Amino acid sequence: MKPYTHEPFTNFEDEKNKQAFQEALAYVQSQLGKDYPVVIGGEAVTTEEKIISINPANKEEIIGRVSMADQKLAEQAMNAALTTFETWKTWRPEHRANILFKAAAIMRRRKHEFSAYLVKEAGKPWKEADADTAEAIDFIEYYGRQMLRLKKGSPVQSRDGEFNQYNYIPLGVGIIISPFNFPLAIMAGTTIAAIVSGNTVLLKPANSTPVVAAKFVELMEEAGLPKGVLNFVPGSGAQIGDYLVDHPKTRFVSFTGSREVGCRINERAAKVHKGQKWIKRVIAEMGGKDTVVVDNDADLDLAAASIVYSAFGFSGQKCSAGSRAVIHQDVYDTVLEKVVALTRTLTLGNPEDVTNYMGPVIDGKSFKKIMEYIEVGKQEGKLMTGGEGDDSKGYFIQPTIFADLDENARLMQEEIFGPVLGISKARDFDHMMTIANNTDYGLTGALITNNREHIERAREEFHVGNLYFNRVCTGAIVGYQPFGGFNMSGTDSKAGGPEYLLLHMQAKTTSETL
Ligand code: NAD
Ligand code: ALA
Repeated sequence: MKPYTHEPFTNFEDEKNKQAFQEALAYVQSQLGKDYPVVIGGEAVTTEEKIISINPANKEEIIGRVSMADQKLAEQAMNAALTTFETWKTWRPEHRANILFKAAAIMRRRKHEFSAYLVKEAGKPWKEADADTAEAIDFIEYYGRQMLRLKKGSPVQSRDGEFNQYNYIPLGVGIIISPFNFPLAIMAGTTIAAIVSGNTVLLKPANSTPVVAAKFVELMEEAGLPKGVLNFVPGSGAQIGDYLVDHPKTRFVSFTGSREVGCRINERAAKVHKGQKWIKRVIAEMGGKDTVVVDNDADLDLAAASIVYSAFGFSGQKCSAGSRAVIHQDVYDTVLEKVVALTRTLTLGNPEDVTNYMGPVIDGKSFKKIMEYIEVGKQEGKLMTGGEGDDSKGYFIQPTIFADLDENARLMQEEIFGPVLGISKARDFDHMMTIANNTDYGLTGALITNNREHIERAREEFHVGNLYFNRVCTGAIVGYQPFGGFNMSGTDSKAGGPEYLLLHMQAKTTSETL
């Protein structure tokens, strides 16, 4: 087996790649409007009530109609997962991993098709969609390999006359709840990690992106995953989400999404219900208010580019987005000018057109929330560019910058999850570090500097799970930059890292007297 390396990104400057992607978009166009079922124990179940998934760039276009699980179906899915766990947990780890390697190979072959679904259903520009699919492939490949590493357990000491072993066994049935913004990578990664560790799961995808999840469920079946290991239960978060989190047979919940929902899940999962024999484990990866910090001796063009691309990639809809910048007073005016100028070059429009840097935000609710924040920004700071939205055809909002914000302004503290950047001025490096750490979150951050001492200080003082120097604060790569945050950003599970699978297992010590 060749050593693991991440899936390369597609070069869309190459005409061949461009044409292949356009063909994938045309293929996906021909597939739009189909029905997708709930899947329980490998059986397709079609329901009356459906999630209608639409294209956020073109509200008239229906991506698909996805059957919705109610509590009765969620209960059936739980029973299927419980029954299948009894056999799946006995599969040899390498046989479970083999299914992942097959799945990764299929997804590689159909890479542009999956990315085209992301363009259509999530409004991702080509490059963002391509990165999402590449990350999904990486998670599948990497977690398969991690399982091969962990199958032997970890070494422990044995004294004379005894034989000690330390092995990892699966937990049970897991509930996987995923967000809209990495509708393939995070949905697939969290699901696959649980499965390859020997658990069975119920997957509840985000309601705005259920079709790409349904395509992934089909792929896993094609890869040979036994029926009942992955049960697909799209549905209302409030209805089946709460029901499954509360369920006494739920062994763990793997959630990625907002702080509000993550905290609710954590609280509900803590309650022990009648018939429950364990403390539920919760993996909760939540929001961010991430900062790009610019020092006074930084490369100022690099600083501007790092700020702009951290803030506006996928319209700022990343937990890792650099939604705020803190700039040293010595270079504040120059960097601000460069940031505004660069932002004005960003193109906004239908993401099916490769020349558009930014597409829409995900839905009407997001659009309204972001536009409300823009009004708050007008009270709190100085609008430098953008500020307009248009939801007549899709949910488009201009890349928007507010400068001269107080470090405690709402725009500098609250996760907006849209293309809105807040900027504050700092007196010196101490002040920069204070501002960088002044939110409830702690997910990502970047420092742009040429000062060696400041790099080392930031390594210690900048309290975030993923800290980057002289680059953007988005785009962690599986197996290279394990991802997860501190404080209200979550449980710091470090997705794509060497310890991630252990969160889905329990360790068993055996000691034999010889
Ligand atoms: P969200 O919290 O609205 O939804 C996430 C999922 O939770 C969806 O599947 C939703 O249906 C479900 N849900 C809603 N109510 C529920 C309930 N009561 N019980 C169980 N499940 C319920 O988040 P979103 O808008 O889809 O995603 C954006 C958020 O996700 C942002 O806050 C972003 O920062 C965060 N995020 C974090 C990470 C990370 O790794 N830290 C990665 C991606 C996104
Ligand atoms: N893992 C994604 C990033 O780093 C969220 O941008």
